[in-house]
Amino acid sequence: MTSPDFDFDRYDRVRPIRWTGDALELLDQRRLPFDVAYITCGSYEAVADAIANLTVRGAPAIGIAAAWGAVLAARTVDAPDGRGALERLEPAFARLNAARPTAVNLAWALARMRRVLLDAGADWREALVREAEAIATEDLAANRRMGALGAALIEPGSHVLTHCNTGSLATAGFGTALGVIRAGVAQGRIDKVYAGETRPWLQGARLTVWELQQDGITPTLIADAAAAHLMQHGAVKWVIVGADRICANGDTANKIGTYQLAIAARHHGVKFMVAAPSSTVDLETPDGQAIHIEEREPTELFSLGGVRTAADMIEAWNPVFDVTPHELIDVIVTEKGIIERPDEAAMRAAFG
Ligand code: MRU
Repeated sequence: MTSPDFDFDRYDRVRPIRWTGDALELLDQRRLPFDVAYITCGSYEAVADAIANLTVRGAPAIGIAAAWGAVLAARTVDAPDGRGALERLEPAFARLNAARPTAVNLAWALARMRRVLLDAGADWREALVREAEAIATEDLAANRRMGALGAALIEPGSHVLTHCNTGSLATAGFGTALGVIRAGVAQGRIDKVYAGETRPWLQGARLTVWELQQDGITPTLIADAAAAHLMQHGAVKWVIVGADRICANGDTANKIGTYQLAIAARHHGVKFMVAAPSSTVDLETPDGQAIHIEEREPTELFSLGGVRTAADMIEAWNPVFDVTPHELIDVIVTEKGIIERPDEAAMRAAFG
């Protein structure tokens, strides 16, 4: 995977975020897989809405989109230097930051944009553009590095299960857990990929399956409820997932359903890997209990593909992330290295 002959373009064709120099184009992930269409955001408000309504989703991708949102917001204010601009941009930063609560990459990217303004002079607008570009470029590089590190842990010929979408669609490119899987397939370490459909928004069924298909990898789709059965029959060696926030003790928030996969994996002796860039590590949040878990509209549970599947006049509860305690995680892979059996000491040693 790190060898010069690894063909990144062959295994990584999809790009969800495009900066035109004038506007932000986002691949509309609500319409995939049947409609491949970009929407154009010309204002930070449009970017905040696109993050909130899942046009763009996945922890690193929403951080990158928010950074470009800050660039768009910069057009709405005048200031002689970065510090002056920062004061005037606070409402825009606050609106972008509030678009989704669980993925720390959003606040992390906006904090970087803020820091740049503190030091910038009259060219503060250009400084913001350079920082947004850097955030995206670094994310792609981190994912490629993580892919190499994570794939090296997988025995040749393995079958693996993944959850949600953690691929190019969720990042600047290559993906986190899906990057490990791409690299593993390229190296012959992974022979078969199972993708959980990821109710209710179907990131697995609609996005992961489509994205892997674009790159010539044919995954096998399973209902979320089939995962424990799959593991019980020895069909997978690894569960490989991404993360929206990794706490100081290694507890990890990820798409709802991840926690039950980790429990089933431990029960059946299946290894559990979390792959995420260091921008997802949040040492200020001590443990999973302190994470704000996003709850979305109950209506997301009432229908499938626009067709109502539940009776009228019912209630539903729709938390969209859960927390996997660090005890259930065998390894966390970031671009900075591998943390086996993560706990507070190991996390501090790696990131402190
Ligand atoms: O609600 P989503 O689709 O934004 O949730 C995405 C996930 O939970 C991913 O697993 C996580 O953000 C990691 S993406 C590299």
